[in-house]
Amino acid sequence: MRTVKLGLIGAGGIAQAHCGTLANIEGAEIIAAADLVPANLERAQERWGIKQTFSDYNEMLKLDEIEAVYVCTPTGVHAAPTVAALNAGKHVFCEKPMEATLNAAASMWRAAKENDKILMIGLKLRYSAQVVKAKEVVDAGTLGDIYYVETVADRRRGNPGGSFIVKATAGLGASADIGVYALDTALYLMGHPKPVAVSGITSNYLSLHNTWNPALKETEVEDFGVGWVVFENGARMVFKTCWCMNMDSLGGTIFLGKKAGLRLGIGEVRGPEEGVRVYGDKDGEIYDQEFTEFESVDVFRAEDTAFVDAVREGKPSPIDPYGVMLTNVIIQGVIDSSNAGGREVAVTVPTL
Ligand SMILES: NC(=O)c1ccc[n+]([C@@H]2O[C@H](COP(=O)([O-])OP(=O)(O)OC[C@H]3O[C@@H](n4cnc5c(N)ncnc54)[C@H](O)[C@@H]3O)[C@@H](O)[C@H]2O)c1
Repeated sequence: MRTVKLGLIGAGGIAQAHCGTLANIEGAEIIAAADLVPANLERAQERWGIKQTFSDYNEMLKLDEIEAVYVCTPTGVHAAPTVAALNAGKHVFCEKPMEATLNAAASMWRAAKENDKILMIGLKLRYSAQVVKAKEVVDAGTLGDIYYVETVADRRRGNPGGSFIVKATAGLGASADIGVYALDTALYLMGHPKPVAVSGITSNYLSLHNTWNPALKETEVEDFGVGWVVFENGARMVFKTCWCMNMDSLGGTIFLGKKAGLRLGIGEVRGPEEGVRVYGDKDGEIYDQEFTEFESVDVFRAEDTAFVDAVREGKPSPIDPYGVMLTNVIIQGVIDSSNAGGREVAVTVPTL
């Protein structure tokens, strides 16, 4: 089997998970890494035996033997290295979310199309057993047309720190950090309908006035966001996310279809319980169907294997970046609407 040689841009926290996983995937090797912080490069060399390191990723991208690149920089620094790598003829795996702004996300999608290269965004929950089961149920037609969705990613006290709360690096807060999982899962199960209008609000009041961690008073991004999304096909979605709240839960993730409904819970995409439940009726009698026994899936291994295989075998991106870009359309709509006092704003899906 041919070995796919990889470069890494950003050797911080999440890069460790990918390096560890790729070290155990046959036919994949990270041969070079780039980071602005020398200590992070030294750690990557020491821990993962990465031979060449660079302070400027543009220099690393000149290496012909690198076929694909992992972009593991902070959220607001995804587009620049991704577009540079795609323009240098490399395939790209970029960590979630796609980017902080819709314009930046669109530039990534366009660069992938123009260069005819794979761009995969690391929405790892696509590989979770619960989402796989829910997709199977939806694709079997069990729900019929989905006309209403509530999707939730919430934490009671779960603010990250570091680069995640600084506007210059993160660009966005909870919406992009965990909300993106709720949005991506919902859009994936709905079949990626086109959003046309959004109203919403965001806030970081609780972080700024919190009583549990003084460091969070420096939070520059939103810790709470809620959106109401209108789709071209008539469907509606409520999207709720927060890093912190004075409540146990913002409710669960539900899908209402014309034939049946589905409740989903997993990790960051919250339901009252983990698992998949279907609610319908048959011959005039209501039924509930539960799927609660799931084998545990190593989602990092699943996504990294899918990416490396796609690169080696010339397959399309395992996670189409167009669908992921729709999460940015919605998040941008929530931000723009919030800035407009919560009034509905029209949203436009970028074109080539
Ligand atoms: N899939 C997951 O489970 C998961 C978990 C955590 C983070 N993430 C995502 O991964 C991304 C990174 O998060 P993290 O926790 O690793 O952050 P981090 O701050 O620990 O690491 C980011 C690294 O990028 C480097 N960097 C920044 N700008 C750079 C540049 N211009 N060139 C080269 N290197 C640069 C930093 O020096 C740092 O080493 C975020 O977008 C986040 O949303 C995903």
